[in-house]
Amino acid sequence: MVVEDGGEVFVVREFDAAKDSSDVEEVERKCEVGPSGKLCLFTDLLGDPLCRIRNSPAFLMLVAEMVVAEKKEIVGMIRGCIKTVTCGTKLCNDHSKPLSTKAAYILGLRVSPSHRRLGIGLKLVCKMEEWFKENGVEYSYIATESDNQPSVKLFTLKCGYSKFRTPSILVQPVFGHRVKVTSRVSIIKLSPSDAETLYRLRFATTEFFPHDIDSILNNKLSLGTYLAVPKGSLCSGANEFLASQPESWAVLSVWNCKEVFKLEVRGASSLRRLFAKTTRLVDRAFPALQLPSVPDVFRPFGLHFLYGLGGKGPLAVNFMKALCGFAHNFAKQHGCGVVATEVASLDPLRFGVPHWKRLSCDEDLWCIKRLSGGNNIDGVGDWTMSTPRTSIFVDPREF
Ligand SMILES: CC(C)(COP(=O)(O)OP(=O)(O)OC[C@H]1O[C@@H](n2cnc3c(N)ncnc32)[C@H](O)[C@@H]1OP(=O)(O)O)[C@@H](O)C(=O)NCCC(=O)NCCS
Repeated sequence: MVVEDGGEVFVVREFDAAKDSSDVEEVERKCEVGPSGKLCLFTDLLGDPLCRIRNSPAFLMLVAEMVVAEKKEIVGMIRGCIKTVTCGTKLCNDHSKPLSTKAAYILGLRVSPSHRRLGIGLKLVCKMEEWFKENGVEYSYIATESDNQPSVKLFTLKCGYSKFRTPSILVQPVFGHRVKVTSRVSIIKLSPSDAETLYRLRFATTEFFPHDIDSILNNKLSLGTYLAVPKGSLCSGANEFLASQPESWAVLSVWNCKEVFKLEVRGASSLRRLFAKTTRLVDRAFPALQLPSVPDVFRPFGLHFLYGLGGKGPLAVNFMKALCGFAHNFAKQHGCGVVATEVASLDPLRFGVPHWKRLSCDEDLWCIKRLSGGNNIDGVGDWTMSTPRTSIFVDPREF
């Protein structure tokens, strides 16, 4: 596709790994993400611009190439992936039956700072939506920080998206010491097939639950599913657990983003860095004191993402806290800088997830657009008009 804008010409075409990778990384480096403050979060894609989408069932990356005096320069890119997810429920013989739809997620939209406000971002989104439609997608959605005005305005004012959900990204630093996990809880690692059984039975009606959950759980980036039950419970697998479910329990799975991308906080003053380093030195010297310390986020660091969080019962929040403590120690063992997760704004389990407000994002704004009305797999009404529910499934492949 060739677009002429104010005399300048740009082409939107599919990304070609062999010739575009270094140019795309260059644009990525130039783009700050989020509100322009002093501190910026940079993402290092570790030499693979497709890394954040390649684990999805269907994906595409497009680039915008500017042609100036016969010289070609990549000035923008966008990624998208398609999958089937739960979008609602239907009451059927006293049971909630999940309703499905084909949904597509847009991520990694970047336009080089020197080429902004030329309509490149808009064209990239339109072209990606064309591919979604060709593939029978009913809904397209994106996530952006609610204070990222360029992005919010582009999607809501120009592309017809509406504000949909506002889950919170909760980020916990990985300290120099191991976190104490209560001895009143047993943590059991489930096999991927047991985890699939549990997720399909308990989470299939959760919004955005991916129908290919098995491919997520069996992916090499998935480091395991962990179930917290009261100490002394006699269950070692999903079937035993489901046969005699304890009154309270919690579950989560760990995804290894560290192998996919690295993050780095740039723009911190030397005073801030020195303070952070001092907290780490004290923490390392006196681990028994369990003093919180600031990890070294000023150099590229990896993270683990916690997904598939769930639980039931009066102690579910405490059990979730135990699982997060366990996940912290696991991430420390793997040399991660932080552990992150994303939960629905109404999810009571969020109170069991330790996090630092400063590192977290209280309102991750998800916007949605209905691309077609005719391909609805289960014939549910318009999902974009539905009210938020208490939980949401955040696909680790899209974080
Ligand atoms: C968001 C981003 C991709 C927009 O790209 P762009 O090519 O400049 O966008 P466009 O020129 O197509 O702008 C289309 C519309 O978006 C809105 N918009 C874009 N930039 C804006 C800004 N800085 N302030 C307010 N509105 C803005 C406007 O409505 C604009 O239409 P207009 O120019 O007719 O007013 C770009 O700013 C960017 O790369 N930002 C950093 C990365 C990022 O935040 N990505 C989004 C993550 S989801």
